[in-house]
Amino acid sequence: LGRKIHYYESVESTQKIAHALAQEEAPEGTLVIAEEQISGRGRMARSWYSPKGTGIWMSLLLRPALPPQKAPQFTLIMAVAVVEAIQKVCDLQVDIKWPNDLLIKGKKITGILTELQADSEQIHSLIIGTGINVNQSESDFSEEIRHIATSLKIESGQTFSRAEIVQEILKNLERYYDVYIKEGFEPVKEIWEQYAVTIGKHITARTINKEISGYAAGITNEGVLKLIDETGKTHLIYSADIE
Ligand code: BTN
Repeated sequence: LGRKIHYYESVESTQKIAHALAQEEAPEGTLVIAEEQISGRGRMARSWYSPKGTGIWMSLLLRPALPPQKAPQFTLIMAVAVVEAIQKVCDLQVDIKWPNDLLIKGKKITGILTELQADSEQIHSLIIGTGINVNQSESDFSEEIRHIATSLKIESGQTFSRAEIVQEILKNLERYYDVYIKEGFEPVKEIWEQYAVTIGKHITARTINKEISGYAAGITNEGVLKLIDETGKTHLIYSADIE
């Protein structure tokens, strides 16, 4: 993975470029990476703040021969790859908040956005976008996000090589992708659950039109969150904000 790298000084969004490359038959493992994104995208149509030279803004193209329902699993695979890269390079402990947030002491360090092009049967291209706050100081964040976001530098007092972190992520991802293809999602899911703070807690899941509270019992093999409400009913949550 990452053998073919498209590197840019400034882009609208690395996701957008990766989608275009995917249409042009770019091979699996193609990586788009930029110093700065002018309109970085987050989940649920939010924007992702991506200032110049301080973070890792990248999109990885994969072409797994799998049905589209399996796509959310890749968000979780990437989450595990990033957690372990940050642990190794920065010696910092990172928690996973389902589905796609990585947190240090409750503040967001990384967001993952998995998008796909597929028909009803098979994925054509899967684009895993990852944003990591690396060398920002507190003053680099606006008032609005300062209390919810952090960077590796803020948490450790050190500046890190973004290239080293990217390298470690790709190495981990390649390993877990291989395990996943050979043995299925189960082994990766077990590791994911070790890092997940959402599981085993009483939580509230907010979607666009409803709110459900209950006990987060775990995730399914598809990466879907299982929530048990006070009546004992199990709800499957595909996408939501968790509190
Ligand atoms: C989220 O937490 O909502 C997901 C954020 C994903 C941000 C990354 S940065 C690289 C890639 N390009 C984008 O425009 N978004 C993703």
